[in-house]
Amino acid sequence: MINQIKAYLSEGKIWEGRIQYFETITSTNDVLKELAKQNAPHGTVLIADCQTGGRGRLGRTFLSPAQMGIYMSVLLRPDCMPGDLMHLTCAAAEAACDAFEKAVGIRPSIKWTNDIVFLKRKLAGILTEVGIGNNQKTEYVIIGIGVNCSQSETDFPEEIRGFAGSLAMVTEKVIDRARVAAELVNAFASMNDKLLTDKANLIEAYRRDCITIGEEVSVIRGEEVLHGVALDINSDCSLMVRFSDGTIAPVNSGEVSVRGLYHYV
Ligand code: BTN
Repeated sequence: MINQIKAYLSEGKIWEGRIQYFETITSTNDVLKELAKQNAPHGTVLIADCQTGGRGRLGRTFLSPAQMGIYMSVLLRPDCMPGDLMHLTCAAAEAACDAFEKAVGIRPSIKWTNDIVFLKRKLAGILTEVGIGNNQKTEYVIIGIGVNCSQSETDFPEEIRGFAGSLAMVTEKVIDRARVAAELVNAFASMNDKLLTDKANLIEAYRRDCITIGEEVSVIRGEEVLHGVALDINSDCSLMVRFSDGTIAPVNSGEVSVRGLYHYV
């Protein structure tokens, strides 16, 4: 697998020597976080065929069965304050859309903030984590992505069957997972080049791909559920929502879950 992935990397292959492949791992994010603390270099990439402890946002589990998906984490070491990275998840989601378009020929959309969707089915999820040093600067960034590649509908547990999807299901093609992995590495490397210099364009591209804008949403914060309409994405990646009582306020992805009123999106 690792050689197939390397064969698809773009010219320059900047991170080629820093890619590690695992048949099984607990969580690529967790292992990479340990490596980051032991000074692993910028551009270290972990890719796994299977995770036994895959994690999603808000403490959820991310199912990571063998031979079905790509589970990947990328380590970046941008020279900036954590506050300069509010748009990180948006940039990563855009990179993922670029990668899938190249690898399988469809451009998916984004459900704010970090779900990659096509025809109302979630194909991939992104979990970004930022480590802060003693000097309060960014010490490391980890971008984790889990992609459903080869599942058919019955491979998903019943409770998520209606809204989980795979690249194979939506393209009706056999998916070359090595190509998907390589295009993700290529796209994250390109994203890294413009992460701190091209924020406005990144957010603009994200707005174009984000299907949450204009949708009715339920904002779930603990026990509280508020209804409203998503109006826009702010430059810090927060979602501007007009709530049913008429108030307009930004919603931050770290604290809430947003559900569309119809179906999953
Ligand atoms: C989500 O949908 O809430 C985010 C899912 C992120 C899953 C990926 S798989 C690779 C990396 N390792 C993890 O434990 N999580 C991320």
